Amino acid sequence: MAGAAVTGLIGLWAVMTERERRASEKSAITRLPASATAKGIHFHDTFILNVTDSGIKVLSNRCTHAGCRISRESEGKLVCPCHGSEFDPLNGKVLRGPALKPLPEIPFSHSPATGEIIIQA
Ligand code: FES
Repeated sequence: MAGAAVTGLIGLWAVMTERERRASEKSAITRLPASATAKGIHFHDTFILNVTDSGIKVLSNRCTHAGCRISRESEGKLVCPCHGSEFDPLNGKVLRGPALKPLPEIPFSHSPATGEIIIQA
């Protein structure tokens, strides 16, 4: 009986901790100065910034297959280290599974005057 109560409390604590972690992740704002936004793919803690001649794209770095952090690019593709899914850095589309869903885009704002990029991820 006491064991079940302890197990229940541990489960409740785990759920609350996960909610707090997600809430804090959602509210984090990152400001990148122009000097940190050179053309190319830049891997950050919670997102991937891709700066090209045609524009800026910010994608989640969490693989849509099982949530591994994507932190590597190979031959122009974003590669998940866990099971090898590959994504297009221009739009997040799946190029190779097992992932089925694209990497979500993350909203951002860009100041042409200062070059600063503000990302809420
Ligand atoms: S978690 Fe990325 S391919 Fe499985």
